[in-house]
Amino acid sequence: MSVPRALLFVPADSERKLAKGADSGADALILDLEDSVGAERKPIAREMAAAWLGARSAGGPQGWVRVNALDTGLTMADLAGIVRAKPDGIVLPKCNAPADLRTLDAALSALEAREGLADRSIRVMPIVTETPAALFTLGGYGGSPRLAAMTWGGEDLAAGVAAKSNRVADGTWDDLYRLARSMTLAGAASAEVPAIDTVYADFRNEAGFAAECADARRMGYAGRMAIHPAQVPVILATFSPTAAEKGWAEAVVAAFAASPGAGVISLDGKMVDRPHLVQARRILGT
Ligand code: COA
Ligand code: MG
Repeated sequence: MSVPRALLFVPADSERKLAKGADSGADALILDLEDSVGAERKPIAREMAAAWLGARSAGGPQGWVRVNALDTGLTMADLAGIVRAKPDGIVLPKCNAPADLRTLDAALSALEAREGLADRSIRVMPIVTETPAALFTLGGYGGSPRLAAMTWGGEDLAAGVAAKSNRVADGTWDDLYRLARSMTLAGAASAEVPAIDTVYADFRNEAGFAAECADARRMGYAGRMAIHPAQVPVILATFSPTAAEKGWAEAVVAAFAASPGAGVISLDGKMVDRPHLVQARRILGT
């Protein structure tokens, strides 16, 4: 199953948004059991998430679930409530270190066995920058069980360092969040999984969102999480290869195929070597 480019957060206790999300065009919904659901609504949110997952159709968006963080005491009840409905993946918030993924892996394996699901069939995307301590572990995710992608978060991190704001006057991220964003990208690349950019809270600001999506894609991000259906088409448009990129990638692959064994070739007057071939294959999905 492919890693989604556009993942739309939906508070799992909202019937209306669950219905709307299914028609949003997103590659995946992230049914949220965490911050967008109040404490007393957690049990009903688990039930509604499981019901949505159980009723989803093959052609629709993938179904991921954001559980509550491991230190809340709620995570195991979240997992016990939703694994029976076979989610495509779990989003783990406030992941402090790669060791947290081993804790999650053990719990998921027990529940997969109980439900007769293949071991490690459910994948995981951790949010790896929500605590200050987590920033110092970003190079250690390689080889983590179930790791499908990595993403980051700037709101809880701001709270963690007692910041008044995580953006500077022109609306762009402040230094700490730019660092988190860059290190998540490098950490994901070193773990050989895609990096997914974080949410953009100012959801009525389409121009600001589009500019930041373009920036993320240029950096190397493979997709982005959305909080509102209007953000989905912007993400899909930004994170798809352009016709020019596809043409370039096809030309690179064809040039290397025509010169088997060559390490470097010249294409349209420019040097092209192995890293370009890797990039070209990634664009073509081959
Ligand atoms: N998923 C599905 N549907 C959504 C949605 C979402 N994330 N956000 C909004 N909608 C729906 C609304 O229900 C509304 O549908 P309706 O016309 O049938 O009532 C329509 O899209 C337009 O919504 P709008 O009025 O523009 O926004 P809002 O004020 O209702 O909601 C938020 C704004 C921020 C509360 C809402 O977008 C939201 O809940 N986002 C997700 C929050 C979340 O999950 N946070 C956790 C991750 S950070
Ligand atoms: Mg949060």
